[in-house]
Amino acid sequence: MNDIERILSIVRNQNKWRRFECLNLVASENVMSPLAERVYLSDFMSRYNEHNAESHYQGTKYAMEIERVVKELFSRRFGTSKVEIRPLSGGIANLIVYRSILKPGDTFISPKLTAGGHVSSTRYGVAGVLSLSEVPMFFDHEEMTIDVDKTIELINNVKPKLIMFGRSVILFPEPIKEIREAIDPKIKIIYDAAHVFGLIWGRKFQDPFAEGADIVTTSTHKTFPGPQGGAIIARDDLDDKTWRKIEFTTFPGVVYNHHIHRFPALGITALEMLEFGEKYAEQVIRNARTLAETLFDYGFNVLCPHKEFTASHQVLLDVRELGGGRKIAEKLEENNIIVTKIALPWDSDKDATGNPSGIRIGVQEMTRWGMKEEEMKYIGELFHEALNENKSVRDKVIEFRKDFREIKYCFEVEKYEDYLDGLLGGF
Ligand SMILES: Cc1ncc(COP(=O)(O)O)c(C=O)c1O
Repeated sequence: MNDIERILSIVRNQNKWRRFECLNLVASENVMSPLAERVYLSDFMSRYNEHNAESHYQGTKYAMEIERVVKELFSRRFGTSKVEIRPLSGGIANLIVYRSILKPGDTFISPKLTAGGHVSSTRYGVAGVLSLSEVPMFFDHEEMTIDVDKTIELINNVKPKLIMFGRSVILFPEPIKEIREAIDPKIKIIYDAAHVFGLIWGRKFQDPFAEGADIVTTSTHKTFPGPQGGAIIARDDLDDKTWRKIEFTTFPGVVYNHHIHRFPALGITALEMLEFGEKYAEQVIRNARTLAETLFDYGFNVLCPHKEFTASHQVLLDVRELGGGRKIAEKLEENNIIVTKIALPWDSDKDATGNPSGIRIGVQEMTRWGMKEEEMKYIGELFHEALNENKSVRDKVIEFRKDFREIKYCFEVEKYEDYLDGLLGGF
């Protein structure tokens, strides 16, 4: 095999394995629709368009237009003109917002890493790079939500300029409203919606702006099934000075080539989510609950049985008794079931990348492949066979996936078979 063949075969292997032979249950991933994928590859991928009000390049009339159109779609959904889609990822969106509001040495309040806080909001990530200090919110392990009373007391003592909600491990909505009502209105509330943006877009999780958030940061590729990227959305009445800072921190501050080729795919995904988002989000949450119940009935230690397990796309298992998150995630991968090992609130920061207590399961991608409650029950059975009975279920997974090869909740494309052939090797 020469080097070209090697590269082509790696791509074919990836497409075949992760797209058609695995149960993809990573809570931070998704698949784009066929139409979004079709427009992902375009001349835009080679171009620049450094700009704020005016482009600093020539040849950018369509680059400006596509960015404007996609922003309009986000504006339509969130009722605000303050939309920034150039950040290349959710982490970079957080960096831009922190840099726009805080100064080196400032303290802010955010969720603790092991209570699901994203690393970008901690000393190990963006916050550390910007020389900020984070003070963690209080978290109730039993309820898997922020301890509101203790956190209000903390905020009123620390008096930060900014508090950050939103987490990578998130079963239930954040108590934005209760906290907003009890703290100084000058404190900016940011909601990192990276994980739950698709559920929020589909009006099935929480409404951060109505509840009092000033700014939402997000990835565009987790429960929101768009191209990998980031976005910042602010309420329309956010002061113009802060919004201008956000735009200028984006460019010329942080982002120079903003990967324009993402935008047509982002626009198609936004249109699909305007049309199908509510149904999709509803099915995601139903699927997560069904999978959680099934796993619980098979004897797995699923978190929060007293709260119907979850109100998001995620299901959390405490697998300490089975050998820990690392061991279980690896064993599931041998069976073509892809999940994430995850720290649970009682773990230490060090456990997060070692052998943490938990695994995190996300059902959003398999929901897009058309799976519903019946299929969730079968997935629960496969977990039982693989983990409790120590049987190999790899062949069963491959067989099962054969019936789920078409993405739902999206516009139809012509020649779907050609599209599949293309993915499986028709270069
Ligand atoms: C809550 C949260 N914020 C931010 C990010 C970073 O997003 P990205 O990977 O788009 O930079 C993640 C990633 O998983 C996340 O879970």
